[in-house]
Amino acid sequence: MKNVLVVSYSQSGQLAGIVDVMTQPLREAGVSVHHEMLRPEPEFPFPWPFLGFLDAFPESVRLDPRPNRPLSVPSGAEFDLVILAWTVWYLSPSQPVTAFLLSEEGKRLLAGKPVVSVVACRNMWLGAFDTVKTLVTQGGGRLVDHVALIDDGPALATFITTPRWMFTGRRDAFLGLPPAGVNARHRADAARFGVALAEALARDGEKTGVPMLTGLRAVKVTPHLLLSERAGRRAFRVWSGFVRLFGRAGQWRRAPVLLLFLLYLVVMILTVVPLNLALQRLAAPLLARRLAARARQYELPSGADGARMAAHE
Ligand SMILES: Cc1cc2nc3c(=O)[nH]c(=O)nc-3n(C[C@H](O)[C@H](O)[C@H](O)COP(=O)(O)O)c2cc1C
Repeated sequence: MKNVLVVSYSQSGQLAGIVDVMTQPLREAGVSVHHEMLRPEPEFPFPWPFLGFLDAFPESVRLDPRPNRPLSVPSGAEFDLVILAWTVWYLSPSQPVTAFLLSEEGKRLLAGKPVVSVVACRNMWLGAFDTVKTLVTQGGGRLVDHVALIDDGPALATFITTPRWMFTGRRDAFLGLPPAGVNARHRADAARFGVALAEALARDGEKTGVPMLTGLRAVKVTPHLLLSERAGRRAFRVWSGFVRLFGRAGQWRRAPVLLLFLLYLVVMILTVVPLNLALQRLAAPLLARRLAARARQYELPSGADGARMAAHE
């Protein structure tokens, strides 16, 4: 019998729900699944208080996370495959996932293991995926597959619906805007990844190093987000360093500079983001080939093509 370790952190339950849908076919195929839900100490609240949400920014970006409570994995347990399910906080992996990847316990569990990465976020996961890949590799794991599920609502609408969800816990449609988060159909369709993993495990596919989730539209990268995200990551590095000059996580003296950061974010979203998008449209003929090539790179290892979709519908 194959043993799979699932490591995840989900606040609203969105990612946890996707993980359940994905792992159901594994359980049905007789695979033993141990689901480790990370528990930061102290917990991050959900819904978020306003300042608490901003205060999570510097340490998320600087990979200096709040620690997790010890894991519940039985000592001596050996796994054939690790599924790492994560969300994005401030263009970086969420703090509990970073804490897991940096911890000795995390590295011990990843060492020598094939790892399937699953991200569910608003829409900006590229830079955070670079970080996840680096940390998995440093922990001795081999990243063999990657699945990305995003909110496919209009980008500007998600700048309203996502914060509303984070601050109130409500993700329903309102004011003519679509519901927040990954849409229900895409969440349900995540079962195909579990089916494909169960098939692969049955033939020792996890041992080959060959991706197991190709042909299933595991990842689709929108080329125009590449540049916005790179610019955002650079700015976030500078701002996070600046905020940390004023104090540690949770200290009130960081509040004024966090509010300044928020002002910067709002001005960026209202001015620079639309301007950037317009400029990119104009420059599209010049940039298109380069961006498309980089987008395809980010779609590795599992890829965007849907050749095996028919078999899973
Ligand atoms: C503090 C914080 C920062 C976030 N930053 C981003 C981000 O930079 N990019 C993004 O696509 N989603 C971002 N999100 C949304 C999350 O990736 C995720 O979709 C959401 O928190 C729901 O996940 P859950 O399963 O943990 O409830 C952020 C969420 C939080 C709480």
